[in-house]
Amino acid sequence: MASASDIPYYTPRQSPPAGTALGDNAPTLFTPLKLRDLTVQNRIWVAPMCTYSAQDGHLTDFHLVHLGAFALRGASLTMIEATSVLANGGITPQDSGLWKDSQIAPIKRVADWVHSQGQHLGIQLGHAGRKASTIAPWLVERGMSAVAGKDIGGWPDDVMGPSAIQWGEGYVKPREMTAQDIQELISGFVDSAKRAIAAGVDVIEIHAAHGYLLCSFLSPISNRRTDKYGGSFENRIRLLIEVIQAVRAVIPQGMPLLVRVSATEWMEESDEPESWDVPQTIELAKLLPGLGVDLLDVSSGGNNEKQQIKLSNNFQVGIAGQIRKALYSAGITNLLIGAVGLITEAEAAKEIVQEKEGTVQMTDEQGGLADANIVLVARQFLREPEWVFRVAYRLGVEVKWPIQYHRGTFLKNSRI
Ligand SMILES: Cc1cc2nc3c(=O)[nH]c(=O)nc-3n(C[C@H](O)[C@H](O)[C@H](O)COP(=O)(O)O)c2cc1C
Repeated sequence: MASASDIPYYTPRQSPPAGTALGDNAPTLFTPLKLRDLTVQNRIWVAPMCTYSAQDGHLTDFHLVHLGAFALRGASLTMIEATSVLANGGITPQDSGLWKDSQIAPIKRVADWVHSQGQHLGIQLGHAGRKASTIAPWLVERGMSAVAGKDIGGWPDDVMGPSAIQWGEGYVKPREMTAQDIQELISGFVDSAKRAIAAGVDVIEIHAAHGYLLCSFLSPISNRRTDKYGGSFENRIRLLIEVIQAVRAVIPQGMPLLVRVSATEWMEESDEPESWDVPQTIELAKLLPGLGVDLLDVSSGGNNEKQQIKLSNNFQVGIAGQIRKALYSAGITNLLIGAVGLITEAEAAKEIVQEKEGTVQMTDEQGGLADANIVLVARQFLREPEWVFRVAYRLGVEVKWPIQYHRGTFLKNSRI
């Protein structure tokens, strides 16, 4: 049995990789998708999930097992959790980081494993901004936060944001970033992207969601700057655009670049005269293909304590679909869309990416317009790391399992 190449130990070559549909007529969910030089065999990706388990920013064996389990079990791309581009950019002192060279090797170890399975690895690069220097969420009551002091590795004197506006109780009041801070942040993204490439990751996602630094620049509620990075829509998106341009300039032409945004901060019903909302996200999205962004990962919320989210299954999928339709209406067909948020069921996952022939005027790769091209899933993978196999089973799609697990495949007509 041939061994997987480029890995310093024997492991059988997975050909085709786990999660590949074996028959014809698979639903779109189990068909390949190409993003620049990357081809994934299905449309199910593991969304980034902070685990607050890194050591001075270095991934450990925990991450190898945690992330490696998803790749082994057929997720076509697994995204490494939010990884800080600067030493003061972690949500907690235990966040993943890429601000120094020694952090490359443990990521490479994960990348080598993921590649040995024929799968792909992404990394989410970000900076926690005014939500930095807190303690791990499992140390406080659910939904609460507490500041990590210097005594436990925090940096409460060095928390920064677009403006000196505190996120809420349990967070540090940030200092307003200077022009030099902004340049250092952009350099941090560039250097971290280079390190991610050295580590062998296949995809970079820029984190501009959930109230972290880039997200907080987008919102007129958290960004009250009077310089060229605040005020108008063009000014508030400027930092994100500069980061995108700087990162795109240093990564290979064939490497996909993704951006995650909070499409709305769910403050439309507040007293605030203006907030970041879906129409602004659509305007931002229209600019992205021209900047070399390949996929917009559509999340929401996290920038404001008073947000009013209406949670339900698949609750952000409609927003993803709205953005995709608006792009098509504007003649923009080269920005892929990722949907995420409480996607837990096979049928839902299938429907989200299934091109629905005849349902809309516009045509896409297979006829009608689906809400998204990729389904990103977080918590369901924590519950069921083999979720790709379960989804395939429930949809009646025969997929490849890892060779070593061939005796464990779900048996036809069994209860699983
Ligand atoms: C434990 C945990 C950690 C998370 N960490 C991140 C993160 O690092 N970056 C990010 O953009 N979103 C993060 N999220 C949000 C998820 O990526 C995802 O968008 C969200 O959980 C909704 O998807 P789900 O319903 O499939 O879990 C996290 C979610 C969970 C549950």
